[in-house]
Amino acid sequence: MIKDNGQDAIHQIAIFASGRGSNAEKIIDYFSSNKTVNICLILTNRSKAKVLELAERNNIPTLIATRDDFYHSDKITKSLAKYNTDLIVLAGFLWLIPDYLVKAYPNKIVNIHPALLPKYGGKGMYGMNVHKAVHKAGENVTGITIHYVNEVYDEGEIIFQAACRLIDTDTPDLIASKVLALEHHHLPRVIEQLLK
Ligand code: GRF
Repeated sequence: MIKDNGQDAIHQIAIFASGRGSNAEKIIDYFSSNKTVNICLILTNRSKAKVLELAERNNIPTLIATRDDFYHSDKITKSLAKYNTDLIVLAGFLWLIPDYLVKAYPNKIVNIHPALLPKYGGKGMYGMNVHKAVHKAGENVTGITIHYVNEVYDEGEIIFQAACRLIDTDTPDLIASKVLALEHHHLPRVIEQLLK
């Protein structure tokens, strides 16, 4: 469903994603009939990211950022300001958020991590690496963490966590699918609560 350009929406949300964007898609769908919320921008660091096709299908502006753009220019802040962004959601975005962006959007940058932080967080802990580590450790529970972003990877204030039980026959792939289901269900709803 193509909404109008969302200029008059109360909340302008920018999504940063590096991959297929299944979380981004859930957010777009969840808010598609909500006139007060507009997904104003999808930013990615990968020119081939599938999330760009999703943006295209939903008529959402995109920005492909190079490392130079992201770490050594004001291109990102200018783009975000152009759309009056008031919340940034990292949905599978693999680059560390630079200080200038954290400072420009204090408690306005939210990340979803596919584990129960502080366990299984930090540098290198993303995607299947997380689920393989959880599996290797023989955990009988894992889950998701939605948290504010600060200057240190995965260490911002926790907003929300949800857990799921694991059984010893669960493979890393099965763990990943259980966790992704939690992400898809909770991320849009947690964002909605944050906007209230
Ligand atoms: C999710 O597992 C999320 O926890 C992590 O990156 C993945 C994004 O997947 N931050 P997708 O691109 O939204 O499908």
